[in-house]
Order: sequence, then C-alpha cells, then structure tokens
Amino acid sequence: MIIAIDGPAGSGKSTVAKLVAKRLGFAYLDTGAMYRAVAWRALDTQVDLDDDAALTRIALSDAIRFGYQAGEALPSEVFIADEDVTRAIRRPEIDAVVSKVSAVAGVRHALVAQQQSIGGERDTVMEGRDIGTTVFPHAELKIFLTASPEARAARRLGQNATRFGEAAQNQRREEVLADIIRRDAYDSGRKTSPLRAADDAFVLDTTDLNIGEVVDVILEQVSVAPPR
Ligand code: DC
Repeated sequence: MIIAIDGPAGSGKSTVAKLVAKRLGFAYLDTGAMYRAVAWRALDTQVDLDDDAALTRIALSDAIRFGYQAGEALPSEVFIADEDVTRAIRRPEIDAVVSKVSAVAGVRHALVAQQQSIGGERDTVMEGRDIGTTVFPHAELKIFLTASPEARAARRLGQNATRFGEAAQNQRREEVLADIIRRDAYDSGRKTSPLRAADDAFVLDTTDLNIGEVVDVILEQVSVAPPR
C-alpha cells in the first residue's frame, strides 16, 4: 500500500508522515530530501544552476541513499555520492535554490523513477509535492496537507531553531514567510508536476490542528481506504 502525503513547505508533512509510517510499520520516503540532495551536490560541485543537463546528470548518476540510526525503524540520514548531507540539505542556502533544481524536468524524471522503484518494494508512506498526482497516481490513499502561510512559517522557524540552535535565532519570521510564499508560487507554477492536490486526494487544513490530531485523521482515512 502506498500512502501519498503531499503539500506545501511547512504543512507538517514530514512530522506527520513519519508518525503515520511508524504507527503502521510502513517504510517512509522523504522525496524532498532527494531534490535537496541534488541541489546540495550541484552547489558543492559548482554546477551552473541554469544548466539543466548538468543537473540532470547529477540526478541520474550520483546515487542517493538513506541511512538508519541504530535501533530506528525509519531512515534519518541522507547521502549523495556517499557524502552524508543529512544536516547540510536543511540549510537556508539549499532552501534558496531547491525549487529551481526541482523544476528541471530531467531531474524530476530521474528522481521519480527512483521513488517508484523504492515504493514498489513495500508498503510505504511517501511524502512530497507530486506523489498523488505523478509518482503514484494509483496510491491507495492520498492526503494533501495545507495550512496558512503564517502557520507554516512559524513551524519552519521552530524546526530551524531545533536543528541549528543559535545560528537560526537571527532568522526573521518575515524572511521565512517570504521564502515560503516564494517557494509555494514557484512549486505551484512550474510546468512539470506542479504542486497541487490530486482530484481524489483527501485535503486537510492543519492550521488549527496539532500533530496528533492530523495523524489520527490520516489513520482514520487509512482504515476506510478502498483497496485498488
Ligand atoms: O519538502 P521539502 O521542503 O524538503 O522539499 C524541497 C523542495 O523539493 C521543494 O521546493 C519542492 C521540491 N519537491 C518537489 O518538487 N517534489 C517532491 N516530490 C518533493 C519536493
């Protein structure tokens, strides 16, 4: 069974998707981490971000791999070309360029093929932007999470403070909000697989819900999802 969880930045996808995967004993795939890894590699190897062919080559040839902490059921580490980029891919420098990298059709084709292969192996909760529309259009359950841009900016600030501590203290709410609005527009407006809810997705506005409430709604949907 594939559970597709799509939605914009800061909608709570990652936290919720991991909890749902844990509760159900499913695998978990963070497809955004794959786009981030390609963006990181492009910056690291000084590839011109306007060179679609070079970006596509990275996605096709630099292997992305997920790693597990001891005793953990879900992957929490990300590698590209054997480099551990777990923390680096969450930095603002990557936030600033990842939409552009992920809009390249060749990059998307390469990563979507990998995602389909990973999801074909076992029951998986897969989170991203186009899982229900493009990667697994026949997923048994499609969830599309939304929340107001302000709520999403507040969550992203909280995450960054946890991840980067003092270094993130100077990040201003307005900057994070502006970045979220800019990325929404870019991700929704791109030609290849724009961010949108699949027609048959269950759309859930999480602005006024806590994580436990969102997880409960999704598990409820799992229990009534028709087999395909
Ligand atoms: O979910 P995230 O913020 O880690 O995603 C990083 C970027 O990758 C985001 O700008 C949108 C893009 N993305 C995408 O285009 N398709 C996906 N399936 C997942 C992420």
